[in-house]
Amino acid sequence: MQFRSWSGLILILFVASCAPQPTKIVPAEFQAGQKIFHKICSNCHGPDAMGKHTKAPRLIDAEYIQSNFSDDEIFEIIINGGDKMPSQRNKVSDEEIKEITKYLRYSQKAAGIGEDEDIEEEETVMEEEPEKTEE
Ligand code: HEC
Repeated sequence: MQFRSWSGLILILFVASCAPQPTKIVPAEFQAGQKIFHKICSNCHGPDAMGKHTKAPRLIDAEYIQSNFSDDEIFEIIINGGDKMPSQRNKVSDEEIKEITKYLRYSQKAAGIGEDEDIEEEETVMEEEPEKTEE
């Protein structure tokens, strides 16, 4: 009997530790968004938006930085849903979506993606010598 209740306790602790948890500590101004994300989005997108074994993509990815996937697009998919993603309209307010977006942008930068605004690339491409110098 004694043994049984111990294993029950251990089981409870184990199950509790499987719930999505924030694994990253973010500055205070992003914590509201992080909290909402973990409440609503993590089930599918994984803790810290790092993806999970579901169809939902990892959002901390170059594909979803500001220049590729704007704040408006994030807003829209949350409100309207996507191919597979159900609309989250009833779960979040506009204000909360802004917080989530702020948090996602921060996390992308913290992960080292989304910072370079590849402006310089264009200039370096055009530098071929006019190789017509045969004598
Ligand atoms: C029930 C599961 C589920 C929940 C909850 C969910 N998503 Fe998704 N999400 C998906 C799936 C599946 C996809 C990929 C397919 C698609 O675009 O519909 C996706 C795609 C996305 C995309 C990328 C869309 C694209 O066109 O590439 C973004 C951004 C996104 N979700 C943000 C969020 C945010 C923010 C939340 C929380 C407010 C959230 N999702 C909640 C399942 C979910």
